[in-house]
Amino acid sequence: MLRSLWYGLLLLLIVACQLAWSISESTSCQLKLQYSKNTCGSKDDPCDEHATCSYDTTTKVVNCTCEDGYVGNGTSGNCQENTIVIYRVGDGTSTLTSAGTPVFLDEYTFTGIFVKTTSLPTTVSGSNMKLVASGTATLEGLMTLSTDGRFVMLTGYNADIGSATVATSSVSRVVGRVDKNGTIDTTTTANLSGQGIRSAASTNGMDIWFAGTAGLLYTTLGSNTFTNISATVTNIRQTAIFANQLYVSTSTGSSVRIGSVGTALPTVQFHFSSLI
Ligand SMILES: *[C@@H]1O[C@H](CO)[C@@H](O)[C@H](O)[C@H]1NC(C)=O
Ligand SMILES: *[C@@H]1O[C@H](CO)[C@@H](O)[C@H](O)[C@H]1NC(C)=O
Ligand SMILES: *[C@@H]1O[C@H](CO)[C@@H](O)[C@H](O)[C@H]1NC(C)=O
Ligand SMILES: *[C@@H]1O[C@H](CO)[C@@H](O)[C@H](O)[C@H]1NC(C)=O
Ligand SMILES: *[C@@H]1O[C@H](CO)[C@@H](O)[C@H](O)[C@H]1NC(C)=O
Repeated sequence: MLRSLWYGLLLLLIVACQLAWSISESTSCQLKLQYSKNTCGSKDDPCDEHATCSYDTTTKVVNCTCEDGYVGNGTSGNCQENTIVIYRVGDGTSTLTSAGTPVFLDEYTFTGIFVKTTSLPTTVSGSNMKLVASGTATLEGLMTLSTDGRFVMLTGYNADIGSATVATSSVSRVVGRVDKNGTIDTTTTANLSGQGIRSAASTNGMDIWFAGTAGLLYTTLGSNTFTNISATVTNIRQTAIFANQLYVSTSTGSSVRIGSVGTALPTVQFHFSSLI
């Protein structure tokens, strides 16, 4: 009985962080495993080939940490090369115009090796809308990674390819959410006729802040309504979350260029505090 309890303890796993995908700020994750002896470098070494293995003799914990440039929980097969994702508008050869243009997410490793392309929808499917972009709107397509590391958040327009001057048209604005497997959700929309949509941020893929020429707005996945967070400054470029605090960057000449928004993650109207 005691013996089996002891073996049970040996298997106790303490996961220090989750598998992150792509543009994560942290490039290493750790996994602590409880062992009775130092298994680092032995045939029982639990760490990935791209992880460093260390053993604490006091706590009897083996610590696997993915090397710089890799993300994962450190166990064998679970340090993946970190990647960056690019918001691409158009096919790369056709001349870009202000009309509705297809959007692609191109993923590369940090050393420039192509991983994959994810195409955003150009037709409506069920409650998933189209997500296209203007080929000439230079301040759009500003993506973020959800703070839980699971989703890339991006914005666009529910318009047909070729739809004229899409960024000032009356079509609905769309927030897209894409996970590491390329599963796309474009069910979140806003009626912001005439207004440009530029960026979105999220904690968990469900709570969403998005921004553009009509201000900083809060919504939830699948909603077609929003709460207006902007009290004064409305010409917003990027919104992003760092260390559980919501931030914005705004247009040239604005009283706030980079600002924090209230405290933590407001879902009601706030004045922005200028940081620079
Ligand atoms: C695990 O190892 C990494 C580097 O190898 C170190 O930074 C970290 O502090 C260690 N964590 C624990 C809990 O020992
Ligand atoms: C490490 O991550 C992999 C892939 O996500 C998962 O299958 C495995 O269970 C994780 N290991 C632990 C100990 O959590
Ligand atoms: C992605 O695919 C893997 C393997 O098919 C699966 O285990 C995992 O749950 C998927 N992740 C998401 C977020 O759907
Ligand atoms: C969108 O907003 C405009 C202007 O406020 C309004 O006229 C129009 O009916 C709205 N459209 C939808 C689909 O709610
Ligand atoms: C949000 O509120 C600001 C300040 O009242 C206003 O200028 C802006 O038009 C509003 N945005 C939307 C989308 O209603």
